[in-house]
Amino acid sequence: MTKLEIKQELEDIQKVAKINEGKNLKYSILTMGCQQNENDSEKLSGIIENMGYTKTENLSESDLIIFNTCCVRENAEDRLFGKLGEVKKYKEEKGTIIAIGGCMMQEKHIVEKLKESYPFFDIVFGTHTLHKFPTDLLKVLNNTKRIEDILDIDGEIIEGLPIKRNDTIKASVTIMNGCNNFCSYCIVPYVRGRERSRQPKDILEEIKGLAKEGYKEITLLGQNVNSYLRVEREKNIPLEEYEGVNSFSTLLRAINKIEGIERIRFISPHPKDFTNDVIEAIRDCNKVCKLIHLPLQSGSSNILKVMNRKYTKEQYLSLVEKMKATIPNVTFSTDIIVGFPGETEEDFAETLDVVRKVNFEQVYMFIYSRRVGTPGDKMENQIPEEVKHKRFNELKELVEGQISVRNKQYVGSNQFVLIEGKSKTNSQMLTGRTDSNKVVVLEGPEDLIGKMVNLRIISEHMWYLKGKVV
Ligand code: SAH
Ligand code: SF4
Ligand code: F3S
Repeated sequence: MTKLEIKQELEDIQKVAKINEGKNLKYSILTMGCQQNENDSEKLSGIIENMGYTKTENLSESDLIIFNTCCVRENAEDRLFGKLGEVKKYKEEKGTIIAIGGCMMQEKHIVEKLKESYPFFDIVFGTHTLHKFPTDLLKVLNNTKRIEDILDIDGEIIEGLPIKRNDTIKASVTIMNGCNNFCSYCIVPYVRGRERSRQPKDILEEIKGLAKEGYKEITLLGQNVNSYLRVEREKNIPLEEYEGVNSFSTLLRAINKIEGIERIRFISPHPKDFTNDVIEAIRDCNKVCKLIHLPLQSGSSNILKVMNRKYTKEQYLSLVEKMKATIPNVTFSTDIIVGFPGETEEDFAETLDVVRKVNFEQVYMFIYSRRVGTPGDKMENQIPEEVKHKRFNELKELVEGQISVRNKQYVGSNQFVLIEGKSKTNSQMLTGRTDSNKVVVLEGPEDLIGKMVNLRIISEHMWYLKGKVV
């Protein structure tokens, strides 16, 4: 957990700011991935705004366009190439600086393809070199032709970067980087490197700062949050214990004490690491939301084994039972992949069986996507596209049926809702979320924004509920 000196980078921010002074420059950032990717974009935005750029959604008026890419599934790639085609004309017309960063840039075959088919980019940078963006940009402004700043080794934990957050009520805080699990379908461990955790003190100070700024909800981010500090403990890496934090459960307990913070969420935990101390901390901490995201991936023990998930169907279900017995009002959300290589009708039926039994609050469903370099891609028994789609639709139908039954159960109940702002679709309405992450819209005065409000749910719709202040 060594901390990297970023003195050079902070100096380069000032140098670029000087070059840009008085020019009224604009930037756009396209964020294409998960919440960690979004959190990285907030850091990039912080850096870029300190260098004298202001944000715009309009690509044609941008002087700098940054793509923060994802490669977890194929459609993420298609989106990047589509957008690059679009921005080429801005590059030609006004010399817009084009920078491409994030997970996809850690894939060699993609960077090769970029050089061949989209050679007009100025900077590519990976997941381990985000903090060096000021230095890379300075070189481009000083007429260096094209920068490739990608590291194959695991990046270090960087602290002290500026950040420009997208929201004023909810904030994401990355607690660890990387993943050691190597699920056989997944590219993330290859593009994000090995697991490494931030120091407890850095995390707690960041959250205390957020509380002072008025933030109410914190989402802790990591590919495997409930193994926070595990690698460090196993390798006997010296740990600066702070406020008693030496694990994920003690981290939850410490954050729960921070005044001003009303809600704590976290994604993603791994079922195999859900130790009793974590379950008890969720039960004991009043601010920790009782919606647990518990990625299932498949309900078939055979498929789970080939996926390298390290739990069986029975273990998953008994974990759910244990949590239901320990944590009052617990609810679950999950991720499921359909059409993993070798998935039979029987395997798929096991997935449907788990979905029926757990009755998830929310299910994120994905069609298996082959990722170059993963074991899944080399498996011979790939499932035909039409079978994958048929299964996906069947799962979707089951899930939507369950959600609509659950939504009806909300009607007439009282829910504490954190009011997040005006509704995007109707500015007369406010919007917020329940503990279980359901969107609730309501009529009410603007000064409710940022407050926890007790609402009576008066009607339900597929993707939101309607509430009334009680
Ligand atoms: N570390 C997190 C998130 C990983 S990516 C976790 O373990 O839950 C988010 C989700 O994308 C995964 O949970 C999985 O359901 C899905 N996913 C990952 N790789 C995929 C692939 N090759 N094809 C389809 N879905 C995939
Ligand atoms: Fe991918 Fe598995 Fe790691 Fe999640 S735990 S990021 S699914 S390898
Ligand atoms: Fe995508 Fe990277 Fe997140 S691959 S899902 S942006 S960790």
